[in-house]
Amino acid sequence: MNLKDLYINFFVKKGHKQVPSAPVVPENDPSVLFNTAGMQPLIPYLMGQPHPYGTRLCDYQKCIRTNDLESVGDTTHHTFFEMLGNWSLGDYFKEESISWSFEFLTDVLKIPVERLAVTVFAGNETIPFDQESYQKWLQLGIPEKRIAKTVEDNFWIAGESGPCGPDTEIFYFRSQDAIPETFDPEDSRWVEIWNNVFMQYHKDTNGVVTDLPHKNVDTGMGVERTTAILENVDDNYLSSIWKDVIDLIVKLSGCPYEGSYQKSMRIIADHMRTAVFISADPAGIKPSNTDQGYILRRLIRRAIRHAKFLNIDINSNWEEEIAILLMKKYKAYYKEIDENWGIVLEVLRKEKEKFTKTLEKGLKEFEKATRKQENIDATTAFHLYDTYGFPIELTIELASEQGLTVDEKGFEEKFKEHQELSRTASAGKFKGGLAGNGEIETKYHTATHLLNAALKKVVGPDVHQKGSNITSERMRFDFSCDHKLTEEEKKETEALVNQWIQEGLEVTVTEMKKEDAIQSGAECMFIEKYPDVVTVYTIGDVSKELCGGPHVKNTKELGTFHIKKEEASSAGVRRIKAVLE
Ligand code: ALA
Repeated sequence: MNLKDLYINFFVKKGHKQVPSAPVVPENDPSVLFNTAGMQPLIPYLMGQPHPYGTRLCDYQKCIRTNDLESVGDTTHHTFFEMLGNWSLGDYFKEESISWSFEFLTDVLKIPVERLAVTVFAGNETIPFDQESYQKWLQLGIPEKRIAKTVEDNFWIAGESGPCGPDTEIFYFRSQDAIPETFDPEDSRWVEIWNNVFMQYHKDTNGVVTDLPHKNVDTGMGVERTTAILENVDDNYLSSIWKDVIDLIVKLSGCPYEGSYQKSMRIIADHMRTAVFISADPAGIKPSNTDQGYILRRLIRRAIRHAKFLNIDINSNWEEEIAILLMKKYKAYYKEIDENWGIVLEVLRKEKEKFTKTLEKGLKEFEKATRKQENIDATTAFHLYDTYGFPIELTIELASEQGLTVDEKGFEEKFKEHQELSRTASAGKFKGGLAGNGEIETKYHTATHLLNAALKKVVGPDVHQKGSNITSERMRFDFSCDHKLTEEEKKETEALVNQWIQEGLEVTVTEMKKEDAIQSGAECMFIEKYPDVVTVYTIGDVSKELCGGPHVKNTKELGTFHIKKEEASSAGVRRIKAVLE
């Protein structure tokens, strides 16, 4: 059995419900491009909202971190990884969490206790030393010298604000050397394998720490790293997760997995897997020049460039072979892989076709520019981007391989100038013919607020927005609800929205302090993600929501509201598709 199955089985036996992995693109949180930790999709529940599956959850969550993209190519860094997690939402706390982690590592994974060490929170002026975790580890047989106390590394928070707390981290001695008696967390032979966070605090955007409604446990264990440890390899790419992918790249390129080829092979394997998961995601991301689409584009283009370095025939179907192998490995765990198989292959092929048209010429241009071993100026970098589709990071990578630098700042300036120009151009176009588009979307935006309010009245106050998506054709609204809506509920909801439309309610907008907005009962999704001063849209006396707009001025502009479809979206979440006619 592999690590994921062992882990889930273990925690299910301990009374946890398995929750499905959320998409890599967060559905309700526009402040981040990708889920970076297992806890991210669970933030509302860590904040106190009841989870439909109960108070003990476990899962494997797809995560993407692109902050140290340049490190990919070594033995351990990946842009995509799976994080195993178990959670207590106001249920068990330190005692069980630590005991179960220990039991799983030593009984199930059979890791010898001698190879384990831990850190615990040493305490600071606001939060005391974590005596309880310290005692628990001693009791389980971790010697005093293998328990390190730290402050910075034992307090966990995703980013700057949100649920947080002290943690205890478990380390494994990953070396053939004799194991030192005293554990030093700075000694790189000790690698962190599991993080148990005792989330009982909330830090707001001003840095003010308050208690959460209940004490939670949030844990995270990386599948890639732990698998490599269990299989006793010191290069993640030699573990069962990657070995066959590397073998395939060796076959396609005819190069050995050695020397300077190694890095390129790892980059191709890593980037292709991440590209597969981004393009298979229900968010429907396609390569583009912004946000997630740009990350996807960069990953594919960087993989292509390294494939070229390995002399892989770019015009063959190499990318398809690699993607298919990866998809076969993951489809049993993630249904979207199976569902979007064809889309993934098409995204990869199209992006490859687009980039290879200009890659050759771009590389020639690059060579010309660096022939005199001069650093790359902003004009050249921008020319490579604009004409040959070289993401700036690719130019930087190519330059650094020759010990050269790129005028990044100058590039940014040129980039902005260019954006301004195209924005002005498209604004002109907007006025000319596309104005209707914006109007209809604005209407749907207001209708979304009305639907949210109507569902609360008809179905119950526990209905909360879980996601929304608007096109010029329709609106889609996801909300928390534990049952399929009955015909009556649907009819009543629809009628209520239409009644409010006919009443011609005024839509007003005010700016207020976040706390005041919450006090006044305004609806919002993730309070901790909002700035201190927020805009609040009010519709008559039926709806009040934190929102960036835009909205219509009066509900009578909306026409007639029709629910077209009501269906399940995910566990405990229903989805309504509706139109305005
Ligand atoms: N949220 C914790 C982490 O990502 C478990 O390390």
